[in-house]
Amino acid sequence: MCDKCGAAAPRSDFKELEPVLEKYADVEGSLISILQKTQDIYGYLSLETINYISARTGVAPAKIYGVATFYTQFRLEPIGEYLIMLCHGTACHVNGAALIEEAITDHLGISDGETTEDNKFTLNNVACLGCCSLAPVMMVKGPDGDETFGNLTKESVVKAIEGIQARA
Ligand code: FES
Repeated sequence: MCDKCGAAAPRSDFKELEPVLEKYADVEGSLISILQKTQDIYGYLSLETINYISARTGVAPAKIYGVATFYTQFRLEPIGEYLIMLCHGTACHVNGAALIEEAITDHLGISDGETTEDNKFTLNNVACLGCCSLAPVMMVKGPDGDETFGNLTKESVVKAIEGIQARA
């Protein structure tokens, strides 16, 4: 049971989420920050997590769910071991991000927002990653940390993914 709000104990104890909720639960207008940090921790927003955040913040689950589905940055499904964030910001867009996406889709058989059947890779199109001079760029978040790949071509993106597959 939550010692602050009395909510029933969830299946997970949400230990990692506690510092976030302690900081933001009572701060008005902080729902998006809470959801962003929650997603950073768990990779996605499960229904169970949404219910727990609701119990701790007093914001109705339907409202949290509405916010989570309104913003494309939030994921409601688990992601693969490696999250490919492919930049579609302006610089990457004009430098061929769509072709890079096509190469990833051809190689892994997944489109934006999808996860491979073996749960290894999820593809997410994102806005500017902040390294436009390397456009087109993708960042891969994996168990060993974040890796950035720049100046991508259809060939080099496949090579980069094959490199990850070889060690995954
Ligand atoms: S537009 Fe892609 S990194 Fe900035």
